Amino acid sequence: MTTRDASAYRCQECGFSSPKPGTCPDCRRAGNTWVQLVEERPVSPRSSRRASVAAARPRALTEISIEPDDRVRTGIGELDRVLGGGVVRGSLVLIGGDPGVGKSTLLLQAARALAQAAPPVLYVTAEESAAQVKMRADRLGIATDGLLLWPENDLSIVQAQLDDVKARALVIDSIQTVFLPDLESAPGSVAQVRECGARLMTLAKGRGIATFLVGHVTKDGALAGPRVLEHLVDTVLYFEGERTHSYRVLRAVKNRFGSTNEIGVFEMVEGGLVEVKNPSGFFLAERPREAPGSVVVSSLEGTRPVLLELQALVAQASVGTPRRTVLGADYNRVCLLLAVLEKRAGVPLGSQDVYVNVAGGGRVTEPAADLGIVVAAASSYMDRVVPPDVLVVGEVGLTGEVRAVAGLELRLREAAALGFRRAIVPQSNILEPIRVSVDIRGVATVGEALTALLG
Ligand code: TYD
Ligand code: MG
Repeated sequence: MTTRDASAYRCQECGFSSPKPGTCPDCRRAGNTWVQLVEERPVSPRSSRRASVAAARPRALTEISIEPDDRVRTGIGELDRVLGGGVVRGSLVLIGGDPGVGKSTLLLQAARALAQAAPPVLYVTAEESAAQVKMRADRLGIATDGLLLWPENDLSIVQAQLDDVKARALVIDSIQTVFLPDLESAPGSVAQVRECGARLMTLAKGRGIATFLVGHVTKDGALAGPRVLEHLVDTVLYFEGERTHSYRVLRAVKNRFGSTNEIGVFEMVEGGLVEVKNPSGFFLAERPREAPGSVVVSSLEGTRPVLLELQALVAQASVGTPRRTVLGADYNRVCLLLAVLEKRAGVPLGSQDVYVNVAGGGRVTEPAADLGIVVAAASSYMDRVVPPDVLVVGEVGLTGEVRAVAGLELRLREAAALGFRRAIVPQSNILEPIRVSVDIRGVATVGEALTALLG
């Protein structure tokens, strides 16, 4: 049974509910004409729950067992990692991202793998025609029997047919283009998105179907249908990437079945999305050697350390206020760090333009990259090279102190694996010895780090 609240009229046959009286559109479509919706008075939560009391009773935590097949691996390692080890049966996963970032591609590839592991998979394409999706599938080399394509916008039709199809996984591409005919508002409106989401939630939970929803994000980064879906669904993933770069990051922002710290890294190539098992190697592939302003930092994404190349260019400003341009890092943080560099380490940047960029279209999200930003700017200003085999790690405070970071050992191990031989780390991080094959040098202030690296 559905458990939705505000609706006042309900179909006694299928549980469909609507705020308006009339006949049930779901039953009508299923061939059962003119089933009248019956008015329902709002019931107190206690009486409405009475029916399910027999099925669910309090049980000891130790008594409850988890079926091993509750999680299905999608066959895409990076996606499974972000989901927490596979997709859970009956869960609702929302994948948000800018148009064109590759959401449909990712889900089509996941649908192929799921169709092999747990057929059939139903791919409802409400945005593109079947021929368009077929063309993409051909490009990706996907030809799987268990994958059913269905160009359909009307969610009530999908609901009515779902039992015939007996799908074990469902993809809705996208939630903004499907609609329920009994609501008057247009597809993509808040009311439609919320109702469609709630309907799919009921379907997913009731039938144990792993369901993926595609959601476009608006210009200011919110999922359209203001956040209504994020509360409802089990998992929210964002697919991010610069259009001009081939790499894409899948990030969990909510996950009822796993950590929200994990990321999955992909590269978009001719034949679709390819998993990047070694992101650090990917980001450092084109690093120039012996170039002033280039520093390697480590950004810990969940349990996964990713090494990134930070570049800074400091150049004499012409007239007026000097420019600060930042790509791939937080603008305000960089301005703060430049002020620390000027005041605490005496590097005069007041008349200098400063450009900071994370190479390869990467992004640093962590204060552990602070020291790297400071060193890169100083290196460019002094036109002195930071040795290429050094990793720079540390958070920088306003007094110029270098503060401890989390997961130092993980970062250092990753660096060692990629051939780095030395590391500048916060002094307060190495109170206990760390067993890695990297030569570690602890620093307490920005000044110490600059002396150690640039002389
Ligand atoms: P798409 O999955 O359609 O994006 P979304 O569903 O998020 O809007 O993919 C968009 C881009 O990906 C498109 O510009 C072309 C590119 N692409 C490739 O580079 N290689 C491929 O194999 C595929 C299928 C797409
Ligand atoms: Mg798409």
